Amino acid sequence: MPSNFVAKGADGYEAIMGRWSRRLAEPFLDFSGVPPGGCVLDAGCGTGSLTLALAAYLNLAAIEAVDFEEDFVTALRKRTTDPRIKAQKGDICALPHGDGEFDGVYSLLVLHFASDPHRAVREMRRVLRPGGTAAAAVWAYGGMPSWRLFWDAIVAIEPEAADKSPTSAKRPMTGEGELREVFEHAGFADVADTVLAIRMDYANFEDFWYPMVYGQGTFGGFFDGLPETRRDRLRDAVRAAYLGGDSDGPRGFASVAWAVRGTA
Ligand SMILES: C[S@@+](CC[C@H](N)C(=O)[O-])C[C@H]1O[C@@H](n2cnc3c(N)ncnc32)[C@H](O)[C@@H]1O
Repeated sequence: MPSNFVAKGADGYEAIMGRWSRRLAEPFLDFSGVPPGGCVLDAGCGTGSLTLALAAYLNLAAIEAVDFEEDFVTALRKRTTDPRIKAQKGDICALPHGDGEFDGVYSLLVLHFASDPHRAVREMRRVLRPGGTAAAAVWAYGGMPSWRLFWDAIVAIEPEAADKSPTSAKRPMTGEGELREVFEHAGFADVADTVLAIRMDYANFEDFWYPMVYGQGTFGGFFDGLPETRRDRLRDAVRAAYLGGDSDGPRGFASVAWAVRGTA
């Protein structure tokens, strides 16, 4: 299995993460740099947050996008009529492209889900022309306080939910310097890394709660299988944590990602 990502449909993904990866795409591309023309690849495109951000660069001639989830690829195709965009199902550990095809290759929030991130980064380098740029970003371990708040409240009450929690164990690539190391190992030159920050803004508790329960992963099935009293206890605990003693309404959580870039 080349991916450890548990998808729950494109709409669920949009609500839990797509709205935030769209926000992260802009500073990520500012840091990565986009070539003044030519062809680029979004490796692990999901529902297209980064692909569509690349499409704002009107000089690009072609924008290819690859993801392991057919459903996400279909959702991306529905979101655009830009003739430069071609989205297909594929594995970033064995990219369906020839050597040196691209001027830029980007991967946003993917490498910590790839079964073999070293291989994926070698593939990113293989499909770049010499002198082309590759860049990647992943959420930092502990870098999403809104997710920590949710899972800490859940696991304190239902410890057996811990194995559903993406925050319970550190994923590869999410520690400081790990992305940089894998890029250096793959033979990239001029490797540079940085920290990117965005705010995850929720309108109210419902806007926070529902996507977290049903947007991604296996927690929704676990939650639905609990008796009503235990479901209510969980919801009340997360609600209290979200509200923080204040009335319901908007909350914003600063979230940070590691990013790296290198030249082939
Ligand atoms: C958190 S999502 C990020 C999607 C998108 N880049 C974004 O920023 O919204 C992670 C994505 O990586 C994809 N993925 C994980 N491993 C993969 C692999 N080996 N090949 C292709 N896609 C992969 C998943 O299917 C999922 O769409």
